[in-house]
Amino acid sequence: MVRVKVHGKKVSVKAKVKRKTARTTGPDYPRYLRGKDLITTQEWEKKDLDVVLRTANEMKKNRFRHPLSQSMYNKSFFMFFYNPSVRTRQSFEVAATELGGHALFLEPGGMRLKTARTAGETIEDAANVMSRYAAGIGIRILEDKITYYGEGDQLLRDYARWASIPVISMAHDKYHPCQGLSDIMALQNRLGDLKGKKALLVWGKGALARSWSSIQEFLLIASRFGMSINVASPEGYDLDPDVMKNVKKNCDGNSQELKITHDMKEGYDNVHVVYSRNWMTPQAYRNSEFHKQEEIDKSLQYQEWICDANKMKLTRNALFIHPMPVDRGNEVTDEVASGRNSVIYEIAENRLHVQKAVMALTMGDF
Ligand code: CP
Repeated sequence: MVRVKVHGKKVSVKAKVKRKTARTTGPDYPRYLRGKDLITTQEWEKKDLDVVLRTANEMKKNRFRHPLSQSMYNKSFFMFFYNPSVRTRQSFEVAATELGGHALFLEPGGMRLKTARTAGETIEDAANVMSRYAAGIGIRILEDKITYYGEGDQLLRDYARWASIPVISMAHDKYHPCQGLSDIMALQNRLGDLKGKKALLVWGKGALARSWSSIQEFLLIASRFGMSINVASPEGYDLDPDVMKNVKKNCDGNSQELKITHDMKEGYDNVHVVYSRNWMTPQAYRNSEFHKQEEIDKSLQYQEWICDANKMKLTRNALFIHPMPVDRGNEVTDEVASGRNSVIYEIAENRLHVQKAVMALTMGDF
């Protein structure tokens, strides 16, 4: 007991015992990632992507008792979905719950936000206000919700500029960082060190006219982790030249090859990983419009561009990957998509663990 003065009278109180903060055992989680936006993995250092992947693997093994499992306690994550989703919405909601927090599904149409075509609240005002309520903001905007390629990326960067909390891409026209991290997590767990392993990204015909977000993110992160890259497509399906410059830079930095071919069989030759996916042409956005049906009609002319068991025989018993939703019978046959080398469900599961790691490290308390 010690004697202290309260309102002029001396009273005895229990002395505050100075306790040493309990030493954290196990791996360290860097605090400098707190507050960081995630618009593409290309803008994060490789060592920090390694931390995310390590944490995601720990969380996968120790789903409910991980040291960071309450790091979002009492915190909220705002999710703006301009486009539909199965995996992203569900995995972010579950991720927030499993970290002790809460994710809110926000319909951008219900928020009177200003857009290129409509009057409304500015991003500056909305982002500043939201930063006073939530711990982070996720945004999905792509395909028919934009009028030119790059519009979605600009929107995310405008939110990131005005928000004082992290802005996370939940897939936009250019990038899909959580998808790319989930792809790499599955490939590392199946193939070990990815340096020198060869991945094929092959265009598939499709009835959905898919954006470039998942595939560009994959090319960036796979080349960053040392994979050599083949891209095979019919002529006229080039991707963003600035992104491809970075893919080439990543390949050069790891002494790996980037091969771009219009010969499908050459693409499949001896690869360890096959990623078959439809994507739109660079002419999909013209005159401030998304020409979806035109893209689908053009795409379906290339009937031979489907990943099937015969083409998979040209590979080194490759894994089949895809971000889903799969356009079965167009991008890939059922035999391959549901075959023993397909890891599509594992990748979809990884979305949960990767996003828990990203949220805990960028928004959590620990
Ligand atoms: N891969 C992916 O983002 O799936 P959803 O479109 O269902 O969210």
